[in-house]
Amino acid sequence: MTHSLVAMSYIVATILFILSLSGLSNQESARKGNYYGMLGMAIAIAATTLSAAVSAYALLIVGLLVGGSIGARAALKVEMTQMPELVAIMHSLVGMAAVLVGYANFMDNTVVIDGVEKTIHELEIYLGILIGAVTFSGSVIAFCKLSERISGKPMLLPGRHWFNLFLLIASIVLAGFFLQQTENGSGLIPLSIMTFVALVFGVHMVMAIGGADMPVVVSMLNSYSGWAAAATGFMLSNDLLIVTGALVGSSGAILSYIMCRAMNRHFLSVIAGGFGTASGGETMAIEGEIQPIDAEETAQLLKAAKNIMIIPGYGMAVAQAQHTVNEITKLLRGKGKKVRFGIHPVAGRMPGHMNVLLAEAKVPYDIVYEMDEINDDFTNVDVSIVIGANDIVNPSALNDPNSPIAGMPVLECWKGETTIVLKRSMASGYAGVGNPLFVLDNTRMLFGDANTTMQAVLKALKE
Ligand code: TAP
Repeated sequence: MTHSLVAMSYIVATILFILSLSGLSNQESARKGNYYGMLGMAIAIAATTLSAAVSAYALLIVGLLVGGSIGARAALKVEMTQMPELVAIMHSLVGMAAVLVGYANFMDNTVVIDGVEKTIHELEIYLGILIGAVTFSGSVIAFCKLSERISGKPMLLPGRHWFNLFLLIASIVLAGFFLQQTENGSGLIPLSIMTFVALVFGVHMVMAIGGADMPVVVSMLNSYSGWAAAATGFMLSNDLLIVTGALVGSSGAILSYIMCRAMNRHFLSVIAGGFGTASGGETMAIEGEIQPIDAEETAQLLKAAKNIMIIPGYGMAVAQAQHTVNEITKLLRGKGKKVRFGIHPVAGRMPGHMNVLLAEAKVPYDIVYEMDEINDDFTNVDVSIVIGANDIVNPSALNDPNSPIAGMPVLECWKGETTIVLKRSMASGYAGVGNPLFVLDNTRMLFGDANTTMQAVLKALKE
């Protein structure tokens, strides 16, 4: 393939990636956005493969087949609830690729450059490996936390901020050694020590982050993986990889910022870890009796209500209750009731998790509201149904300064007339904190798997 044809394909792929990102910013155009992204990636892979030397084709095809089939298998097998884990482990692969490409570049004797160009090339290698190693180890820990292989509780080492500062200074000092020593080929030693330091930093950074702050970490690692890809692009002199990496890096950074704002967190406090746990005070005790309710009584309350709010959370995803919820919504709206959905920005386990589920069940977009749009309206709501949500409706975020989720805005459903909470037990949510909502006077608990109970409610509504 000629050089100009490759360049042309890369431009087309870049345009498709930009169209993909803009499509993904809106639910109605998200499907089209995905198609643009797939087409862009197919063009990018084809152009890159065909631009390689013919002798490398066999190796590339084997690589494509092996990687492609592992990816396809993982995508077919993964449950919607395991999506964040899959994303985290994919980020780790991008980080690992950046590290491996960095070392391969460093050891490549065929590149003959000197002067400023050489220093720039070495800096690219150093930064690529640094970002790649942090992304790799951080993503592996994020994967383990999200899949509950290790506890979601923050690991708070004494003097952890000093430790982070030490690692940062060590990386800068090692960069100096590396740049000085590459002349005589001994740069491998500072490079290896820095890789170890970066791996430790990635582990420490994510270990120190508490459960409820994980959304920010996932989007931040998404951003890091983009910068790692961009660094790989510089090392390989591949323009498309640089542009794509920068797109992923900057969109991930914007998403992290939006997440932080939605959760009322300062970005740096989240990165430094242990947010909300530093006060050391006791969290408020939860006192009161729970008031259980059954499906028939729930249906009666819904029949009598005019204004209904549905608040979905992670449990709706686990129970796959979205289709039954849509059936109930259609039935209630058919009876002339006002039914709306209130979506918290970190409901579920990934950004937009609830929106995806509701879109899959064909819930109309115009009755699905963001938290900020409806939070002031709960005083007019007759019945709120909380479906498998917990942290996002926890009043202690607002009134207990010692709570690990203190300061996080939540859906204030308790301000409505009655709240019905669907869950299987009194277990806590992802952040591992108790929820006083469950014992409030105007709360009723409907215990059981959300899909089973919603089906029972649907049946009772039809009778
Ligand atoms: P959670 O606080 O995790 O609560 C989910 C609740 O669903 C649990 O208390 C569980 O109680 C219930 N549940 C589970 N399976 C169920 C089933 N089959 N039927 C009925 N109920 C079921 O979820 P949330 O309120 O959506 O809040 C999200 C949390 O995840 C936040 O802390 C957030 O920070 C964190 N997080 C979010 C993201 C993103 S980006 N969205 C990423 C990582 C972490 P039972 O076990 O008693 O049923």
